[in-house]
Amino acid sequence: MKIAVIGTGYVGLVTGACFAETGNEVTCVDIDQSKVDLLRDGKIPFFEPGLENLVRRNIESGRLTFSTEYSLAITGAELALICVGTPSAEDGSADLSYVFDAAVSIAKASDSVLIAIKSTVPVGTRDRVKKLLEDEGFSHSVISNPEFLREGSAVQDCLKPDRVVVGIQNQKHKELLQDLYAPFVRSGNPVLFMDSRSAELAKYSTNAYLAVRISFINEISQICEELGANIDDVRKALGSDQRVGMQYLYPSVGWGGSCFPKDVKALVNFSESAGLSSILPSASFSVNQRQKQRFVDKIYRHFETLGGLEGKTIAVWGGAFKANTDDIRESPALTVIDAILDKGAKVYLYDPSAMDSLAANYGSKVTFGKNMWDILADADALCVLTEWNEFKHPDFSKLKSNMKESVIFDGRNLYDVSVLDSMGFVYHRVGVSYEERSR
Ligand SMILES: NC(=O)c1ccc[n+]([C@@H]2O[C@H](COP(=O)([O-])OP(=O)(O)OC[C@H]3O[C@@H](n4cnc5c(N)ncnc54)[C@H](O)[C@@H]3O)[C@@H](O)[C@H]2O)c1
Repeated sequence: MKIAVIGTGYVGLVTGACFAETGNEVTCVDIDQSKVDLLRDGKIPFFEPGLENLVRRNIESGRLTFSTEYSLAITGAELALICVGTPSAEDGSADLSYVFDAAVSIAKASDSVLIAIKSTVPVGTRDRVKKLLEDEGFSHSVISNPEFLREGSAVQDCLKPDRVVVGIQNQKHKELLQDLYAPFVRSGNPVLFMDSRSAELAKYSTNAYLAVRISFINEISQICEELGANIDDVRKALGSDQRVGMQYLYPSVGWGGSCFPKDVKALVNFSESAGLSSILPSASFSVNQRQKQRFVDKIYRHFETLGGLEGKTIAVWGGAFKANTDDIRESPALTVIDAILDKGAKVYLYDPSAMDSLAANYGSKVTFGKNMWDILADADALCVLTEWNEFKHPDFSKLKSNMKESVIFDGRNLYDVSVLDSMGFVYHRVGVSYEERSR
């Protein structure tokens, strides 16, 4: 099948490469010429495990090409997938201008192509796109096909999705989508057909549920800290219940990224526009804000008796919003780093993948290391803010001897409390009160 993919961000590029991998002829379009130039050379503008090889292989096979020209990509294509960004507008609603622009550009390039919206868009957007096109004199069919991949495991998620959701009515189009996704669901995972509004809401409900779930365990971790319980034990007991399960039940410094914050905001916005005040999604936001602030407060409190953070040196491991990505959008690490800088401390920072975006964000305000060890000299404390594998099992004796003070603020609960306590570290983690332990 000949397919056009519009937008070469995380979703567009991964989707395009995966469809090419299964034998389709794919052209990816982006309005960003520099991105397209890079991609034509087989270079990936962001970090995503496994993607570079996949893209290169499919460029070499001739099945994957890149262009800034819609006409080149759309002519002869049966399907055009819109994968452009839908960022938060000022009021929290999703900014749909990129989606609308893309839809009109596709329609102008071909009369017959089926338009699928893969971007995350509020309930009713497919209908708005259809109406917009009709107002411009086009009669294209438009369907909803939201994407559920996760950064960090995007290629695997795309090739083996838990489910595919398609908001569609027309039987012929159903068959086309069933056929397209067949190689991805050979192990029996479902392709779920429904109306477009349900498909659109399915995507938001998934992200909002996960945000609520993480905020729930984070709120429990806050209670643990206040009342002297241990989140590790509570989590295990809670997650062992088969009705609950262990996944997405890790307490941390908070959630972030390019999707959860903007999607929760959009869900709140469109629920409220429908006259329904948002309760749980809004609460997940408040808990998340409090979680990040409590982590910062722990750092402030520690340095209170030591003359404050002014002039102190803080080493930071991790800036990406989670491991295996270079994405720092709404990363909780940024909240923590900003708060430390705000009090006049020097920050030495290392992240295995996100150094370019962190450098663009902070410039000379922070000092960047070449590895996780060379930022530790003179450190009055270490903050661990992203759960990268390489941070999970460091040589603690080396850590102790490299740092000025043996103080760790762990926002990802990576280490064993008893080991670090026994080695004389002042070890703060989420949901286990250091003050309680040292009493
Ligand atoms: N990133 C994720 O993990 C993820 C997962 C599932 C769904 N989504 C959703 O998918 C959509 C895309 O997300 P992303 O992270 O890939 O975004 P992104 O910001 O990484 O990429 C969007 C790309 O679209 C391009 N673009 C914008 N307008 C265009 C136009 N008119 N024509 C052609 N290209 C255009 C931009 O230049 C950019 O390269 C969003 O709605 C997002 O919510 C993202």
